[in-house]
Amino acid sequence: MITIDLPDLAATGGLALRIADALRPGDVVALYGGLGAGKTTLARAVLAALGHHGEVPSPTFSIIEVYDPPAVRLPVVHADFYRLNAPAEAGEIGLDDYRQGAALLAEWPDHAGGFGHEPACLTIRMETRDNTRRAIVEPGPDWIERLSWT
Ligand SMILES: Nc1ncnc2c1ncn2[C@@H]1O[C@H](COP(=O)(O)OP(=O)(O)OP(=O)(O)O)[C@@H](O)[C@H]1O
Ligand SMILES: [Mg+2]
Repeated sequence: MITIDLPDLAATGGLALRIADALRPGDVVALYGGLGAGKTTLARAVLAALGHHGEVPSPTFSIIEVYDPPAVRLPVVHADFYRLNAPAEAGEIGLDDYRQGAALLAEWPDHAGGFGHEPACLTIRMETRDNTRRAIVEPGPDWIERLSWT
């Protein structure tokens, strides 16, 4: 488990860059944290680092937004599971199909049943302290060799 201070948006951007450089199809970046903790901000920064230009709508209402090459280096599914009433609904909206060959950036992952059991899951817990943020990062086995935190 690694704790990273994110005093400002630039720091969040730096973390996003490291994630984006290491990201592969099949991965999950599970973004925990309360309302306004900075989950969408981090997801947007990852998409930008993967090459996406322009807006990244928050998937609060659509639940799933898809980004495909060549605009991004690899297919990405950006999801916000907050509005799911039960984890089974993730299957009903076709999450497994969306995930084929793609990396998943998941806000409120617990509402979809959680992804921590997947070896390629990078769990990030965003904590709010006044106007700053802190990320507590827990790499699944597939991530340990991939990220250097120095
Ligand atoms: N590292 C940071 N330092 C300071 N402010 C930040 C940081 N990261 C995000 N913020 C600010 O926090 C606010 C909320 O961020 P964001 O929308 O990403 O939260 P969220 O976790 O996705 O919330 P929700 O659960 O409602 O979707 C934004 O105004 C954003 O600019
Ligand atoms: Mg959000």
